[in-house]
Amino acid sequence: MNDIPAILGGTPVLSEMAGIVKPSISDYTTPELMDRIEGILKSNMVTNGVTVKELEAAMADYLGVDHLVAVSSCTLGLTLAIAAAGLQGKKMIVPSFTIAATANAAYWNRCEIIFADLDLDTYNMSLDHLEELLVDDDVAAIMPVHVFGNPVHVAEIEALAVKHGATVVYDAAQGFGADYHEKRLGNNGLFEVFSGSPTKHFTSAEGGFVATNDEKLAETVKLARNYGVLPNYDCVIPGLNARMPEINAAIGLAILPGTDEFTTNRNRYAKMYQNGLAAVPGITFQKITPGSYSSYNYLGLMVEPTEFGMTNRDLEAALKAENIATKVYYHPPVHQQTAYVEIVGRQTLPNTEYLADRIICLPLYNHMDSGMLESICAAVRRIHANSDDVKKSLAAKLASV
Ligand SMILES: Cc1ncc(COP(=O)(O)O)c(C=O)c1O
Repeated sequence: MNDIPAILGGTPVLSEMAGIVKPSISDYTTPELMDRIEGILKSNMVTNGVTVKELEAAMADYLGVDHLVAVSSCTLGLTLAIAAAGLQGKKMIVPSFTIAATANAAYWNRCEIIFADLDLDTYNMSLDHLEELLVDDDVAAIMPVHVFGNPVHVAEIEALAVKHGATVVYDAAQGFGADYHEKRLGNNGLFEVFSGSPTKHFTSAEGGFVATNDEKLAETVKLARNYGVLPNYDCVIPGLNARMPEINAAIGLAILPGTDEFTTNRNRYAKMYQNGLAAVPGITFQKITPGSYSSYNYLGLMVEPTEFGMTNRDLEAALKAENIATKVYYHPPVHQQTAYVEIVGRQTLPNTEYLADRIICLPLYNHMDSGMLESICAAVRRIHANSDDVKKSLAAKLASV
């Protein structure tokens, strides 16, 4: 490998494009899984069947939680669980540094959304800003996100919630297999909801999982995922169709036993990235909350342009030329997205905007070749070492469009 970045004419460090995520579905497409899927199809019981129940029991056992309800997506899991918690129409504090789905679940419950700023170390909800927002005693709920799988400061958030009479519910979409104080996520607040979408390290191809120790909430979500109708066809709560198909449950059951290996690997790869880029100025990694174990659904880092020599967007373009896909998650943050400027109005969240302007996520998989990981680090190093020329080249390309 030479020192010339691909964007300046060097040979790309990777011969084929490396995606930002690599779902493990194909690795687990075994004859056993195919047999199970064939059995489901031949039984004609393709939804609401025994496979979903088996997955729910296995996941509850893995998390050490009393109840786990499988649904068709995390977005619908959050939507139904917020309703089941009686939070419809109430004031809810949510982060802005997340996917819009977090706020959308609150919106569909007619909640009044209040965006909280973040902490620049962990990328999670800022405790200081949360405390300021809770001065409004009408706030009924707080919905933190474990950003990239990094557990939030659960104890501090829940203490603030108790003080102000608010309920805490969690968007744990990315945190399956992560721990807070040696306890799996899924056990905090009134409920936590995980995602099984294909971008997640544990996936059921699509799906959502409501974890709770509250029996009534679990029963209400179970009812609501099936239109809210009783067996006698009386609709007792206006629910949705949020059922998980049996085939998705079969995929989830096949992949579930790999979860600990995935999170162990991802933590190891994160360390390797940190070591490989330690000497590069202007790069700082997401800090894991003390006493926590991250699932590292994404590997996020901040690029400080004045020290690194270019912006995160320039780095993204230069890495693309090296056959390395990256994601600028999350830009724009939700409070600056069109729908929410209309719904909530324009506002400023300084740390969220600062991070959104600097964040970049590098490829991170359940199983990753260490040579590939080292090549990605080498690419970042050589792009930084040639930052003036890379910037000129990008500016020239832009001018020629
Ligand atoms: C933080 C967060 N919340 C919610 C979701 C929505 O999950 P789903 O696609 O399963 O509805 C995602 C999915 O990417 C997410 O990352």
